[in-house]
This record gives sequence, C-alpha cells and structure tokens, in this order.
Amino acid sequence: MDWTQKNVLVTGGASFIGSHLVDALVARGATVRVVDDLSSGIRDNIAGHLENGTIEFIEADLLDPGVAEASMKGIQVVFHLAANHGGRGYIDLHQAACATNLALDGLVIRAAHAAGVEQFTFASSGCVYPTSMQHDPSEVLYLTEDMVKPPYEADDMYGWAKLMTELTLKAYHKDYGFNCSSARYFTAYGERCLINHAVVAMIARAFIRQDPFIVWGTGEQIRNWTYVSDIVEGTILAAERIKDGSAVNLGTMERTRVIDAASEIIERSGVELRLQPDPSKPTGPYNRVSDNALAKELMGWEPKVSFSEGLDRTIKWFHENHDRDEVAADFERSLTER
Ligand SMILES: NC(=O)c1ccc[n+]([C@@H]2O[C@H](COP(=O)([O-])OP(=O)(O)OC[C@H]3O[C@@H](n4cnc5c(N)ncnc54)[C@H](O)[C@@H]3O)[C@@H](O)[C@H]2O)c1
Repeated sequence: MDWTQKNVLVTGGASFIGSHLVDALVARGATVRVVDDLSSGIRDNIAGHLENGTIEFIEADLLDPGVAEASMKGIQVVFHLAANHGGRGYIDLHQAACATNLALDGLVIRAAHAAGVEQFTFASSGCVYPTSMQHDPSEVLYLTEDMVKPPYEADDMYGWAKLMTELTLKAYHKDYGFNCSSARYFTAYGERCLINHAVVAMIARAFIRQDPFIVWGTGEQIRNWTYVSDIVEGTILAAERIKDGSAVNLGTMERTRVIDAASEIIERSGVELRLQPDPSKPTGPYNRVSDNALAKELMGWEPKVSFSEGLDRTIKWFHENHDRDEVAADFERSLTER
C-alpha cells in the first residue's frame, strides 16, 4: 500500500501501542489523525508529532454524540485501538467499564462504514480464545485462530467485547463488502507500556526494590510477550493484506513462565530480591501462547525481537524515564487502574 496517498485515523493513538503505530505510519508518509480522550493514553506519547505538526489530534470521547462521525471525515484507513482497557488487574476488576467497549466499537465501525472508509483494522486480543483450554501450563499448546468458534468462551467482559467486534466486522464484510481485519495482540510490551501490564509491573517492582518481590499467581503462568514494534508491523500488514474480516494472531511462540521473567528482570536490573508468589491476585489463564503460522502465511509476518532483547530495551527505557519515589508512591494503585 502506498501510505503517502492515505488519510489514516488511529483511534486511541495516544496509547502505548497506538503511539508506536502513529510513529510507523508517519514514517511511511501517511497523513495521520488521532482521536483519543486521554483516559489511559498520554499526550507525551505523541508530543513530538504535535510539536512538528505532523499529525492532527482530536481530544475527544468517541462515545460522545457525533465524535465518531466527525473523526471519519476524509479518512480512507482506520486503525481502531481506542478501548477501555488496562492490564490483568484492570480487566478482571472493572467488568462494567470494559463493557463500554461493546458500544464504542459498534459506534466506530458504523461511522467508518457510513463514511465510506476503504479499510478498517481492529486491535483485538488473545482474550478472545476459550479460557477453558488455557488452564494447564504443562501442556504445550499454541492457540490457532480456528480455535475461536462456537460455543464461544472469551476471557472476561473485555475478551467478549473484542470477540463481538471481530464478529461484527466479519458480518460487515459479508453483508456490505466492508474491507476489514482484526489483529489479535498477545501481551504486548515495550517502551511507553503502562505499569498495569505484567512485564512493566515487574520491571517497576525491581526498580523500586520491592522485597519480597510479589509475583501475581503461582508464577507458573506461561505467556508469549510480544515486543511493540512487531505488534505495529503486524497491524499495518493486517491493513494491507487482509480484507475479508479475518482475524490473525500477532504473538511470538516463545513460552516464558512469569516466574522466570521475574528472575530475569531482577537480574538484569542489577538487584537481589526474594520472589514471593501471591496466588490470590488476578492472573488470567495459566497457559496462553499464540501460534503465528497464519500471520506468516497471509502477510509474511514474523516477530523480529526476542523476549531477551525486548526486555533489555524496556528496562533501559523504564529506568531512564521514571523516578523511583514517584513510582513507589503510586505503585499499588497503578497495578489495577488505568
Ligand atoms: N497492551 C496489550 O498487551 C494489548 C493486548 C491485546 C490488545 N490490546 C489492545 O490494543 C489497543 C491499545 O492498547 P494499549 O495497551 O496500547 O493501551 P490502552 O489500552 O491504554 O489504549 C487505549 C487508548 O484508547 C483511548 N480511549 C479509551 N476510550 C476512549 C474513548 N471512549 N474515546 C477516545 N479514546 C479512548 C485511551 O486513552 C488510550 O489511549 C487496545 O484496543 C487494547 O485493547 C492491547
């Protein structure tokens, strides 16, 4: 796709992933508009573009009357990332707030279709996969896209809303020929990620020298943390290559236990702390790792950044951009809020 000819809307473009997506689209020469209410997004994430005048920014709530419609004016490609979302502590403890995504996504899709948008790509999630198949960390399981099927069984209200939006897009393609795709992100991390997500929460614990260092759950949970630049590249490819409403996983196939990630982070942070699992805390499923063969087949996408390399970059960024006393003062609240 020749991005220099495209007017692109990124909803939630001031977020962690959204702002990296904006950087990548601007680098490709696209004309970018961001709409974000800054409920969890941060103006600083897009400050460079605002100062240079390289993007247009609408600070508004897409749930307010007329905002979605106004945001679509003149737009050809939409990346829909705006969501009421946080890390595991947030989505477990704020079900009603996450349910607003049902309305938000419905409004945004309807407005995009009405405005004649050429391509719509949605930030979906590994939370659409049936939770009952993700209980046993000793099973070597890779989630393939076809496992999301009736009877559906998504992860919390947040996952159900993502699933309903995927199904809505499929219906819009079938009934109206709407060109669209969903990219299922698996536990993204990297620079600008908030403390309410596991990797950055663990980096923050080591940073403030929390001793004992609390690990949510038994620590046996397995994840495939996926670095933000890989997520962004896959999202852009999903817009370029997928038109029929299909959903594709964006995740590495590296299986990492939370307890091992915690040990790595402590060591790389140059501190010595005792690990203390706390199974009473929100954990999500114990075995969540994507298969990424379909992304390779449909779009030639493969993750380029290993967990080891991404972890080093994220620790470095965190240390350079945070103040120890400030992180410590607000730490417990920031784990479950947005
Ligand atoms: N971070 C992950 O690991 C992950 C995994 C799967 C999916 N996702 C999805 O990726 C997207 C980006 O997530 P993220 O982690 O970068 O940050 P995030 O969840 O903070 O991003 C959401 C953005 O949308 C904005 N927003 C929320 N409600 C809005 C509204 N009503 N009107 C306008 N703007 C609104 C927020 O201010 C924020 O900038 C989200 O859709 C999220 O569900 C993220």
